[in-house]
Amino acid sequence: MKILLVGSGGREHALAWKIAQSPLVTRLVASPGNPGMAGLCELAEWKPTEVARLVQLAREMAADLVVIGPEMAVAAGLADALEEAGIPCFGPTAAAGRLESSKAFTKAFAERHHLPTSRYRICEDRETAYAALADFSPPYVVKADGLAAGKGVVIAQDEPAARAAIDDAFSGGFGDAGQVIVLEEFIEGEIGSLFALSDGKTSKLFGWAQDHKRAFDGEQGPNTGGMGTYSPAPVFTYDLVEQVDERLVKRAFHAIAQEGAPYRGVLFVELMATRDGPKLVEFNARFGDPECQVLMMRLESDIVPYLMACATGRLHEMPDPVWRDDWAVCVVMAARGYPGKPETGSVIRGADQDFGPHVHVFHAGTTKGEDGALRAAGGRVLNVCATGRDLVEARERAYGAVAAIEWPEGFHRTDIGWRALAR
Ligand code: GLY
Repeated sequence: MKILLVGSGGREHALAWKIAQSPLVTRLVASPGNPGMAGLCELAEWKPTEVARLVQLAREMAADLVVIGPEMAVAAGLADALEEAGIPCFGPTAAAGRLESSKAFTKAFAERHHLPTSRYRICEDRETAYAALADFSPPYVVKADGLAAGKGVVIAQDEPAARAAIDDAFSGGFGDAGQVIVLEEFIEGEIGSLFALSDGKTSKLFGWAQDHKRAFDGEQGPNTGGMGTYSPAPVFTYDLVEQVDERLVKRAFHAIAQEGAPYRGVLFVELMATRDGPKLVEFNARFGDPECQVLMMRLESDIVPYLMACATGRLHEMPDPVWRDDWAVCVVMAARGYPGKPETGSVIRGADQDFGPHVHVFHAGTTKGEDGALRAAGGRVLNVCATGRDLVEARERAYGAVAAIEWPEGFHRTDIGWRALAR
């Protein structure tokens, strides 16, 4: 089977690592990929939004399947173009992908279909947003409507801070993503990330994890795309998983199909476990990053038949996936300045050494020059992942590897998994 994988981050490196283990795969090409993926597959040069080029590449390599990693490829309509070309694709159409690309669409969708979520107001200008603050109490949640790489949310502790976030959004602080904003009620609870596959008709749960969204230890600092994950996450009790499946996953897949946009791919349900049951925080039309990394470390089953089944409407034929009993932890090493303006270009030493069978370092934002040196090329740069019999062992292994990587210009959180350890 020939597979084209689209994307270049840690999530795609982890997917490439898992896909390359499948005995079904005869050729794997990643576009554009990253230096860490170079040892696993061929790399092509097209970016995730270069839809026509990617379709052409899929045709040239006679791809049996295209796997979409990042949300920008979904929003750019890559799945739609592949459908037109008759090439199976794991990843939703742009219309189904509005569940991520428009927070305003998703809030209204949740309301229409009775999916539990927080109260909200959609605001198209500054004055409306200032006035709408009166409907909420602190802390205020100010969200960009569009795609903002996980950085489009501000939790403002008081009204002046909320007004400042509104000003920033309407002055271009979130780029085009912030031309419309959503104000939301703050919900108390424990956060969780749950994943479900769909082929447009059938759905299947595909693992869960917990992310750490703030930049610094102790849940301090700005929101990021995610600074570290672990799986399994004890917040996901049997009851919670069942409630999320019934109240959010199955309803959402059914409703989006009813609205004319059947969903093929993975849906990432970011939720808050509250005293009143699970509430939707956001949907994402892709695997989480860095949630995907810990899922791939724990997935025993071959992933390729699941990806193919979603793309071809055969998910009902698949058994439930098998997960290893091990725990997995991912520690994100980020460039100083992230999530604002990361300092790029610094040299990283020791990332590609052999850390043994329980540790894997996925590249997220790296580059390798002609001198062979690995350099930081983005905000989140390396994802140091490890497995263990329990969370303590997995953490010790992951942080042991982090300590062995020489990169003074980077930073990381030292408390990944704290909620599970505090239980
Ligand atoms: N880790 C959160 C996300 O992928 O959006």
